[in-house]
Amino acid sequence: MAISLNESETGDKGEVFRDVQMVPYIESLRKYTQTHFKREEMLQEKVGYAFFDDHKQEHQALIEKLDGLAQSALRANDDTITDAAMDLGSFFADWLTGHVIENDLPMRPYVDRMREHAEKLRALEE
Ligand SMILES: [Fe+2]
Repeated sequence: MAISLNESETGDKGEVFRDVQMVPYIESLRKYTQTHFKREEMLQEKVGYAFFDDHKQEHQALIEKLDGLAQSALRANDDTITDAAMDLGSFFADWLTGHVIENDLPMRPYVDRMREHAEKLRALEE
């Protein structure tokens, strides 16, 4: 009796998970992160945000960290895929709680002026 096995039944579950679920997830998160940072930096420049250079460096460091984790995840095998997925999840949790709360909060006094520019940018995008 012949039995047909697909990849997920042959012990390659981690790699199938990586290719089918993680790769598109990583690509969209990276694109979202870059777009978010670029937009934020554009608005900071428009309003003369006092901590622009430090904030931009923080963004760059986060992108580099994300790229490193993404590369590890893309090279992961069945033995390492769980750790790679956990590392990416932790990165985004840390990014949300760390960068957005601690580093983005000092922008508060600039928000009203940023909002005006954001509305103009939105109008240009439409
Ligand atoms: Fe930021």
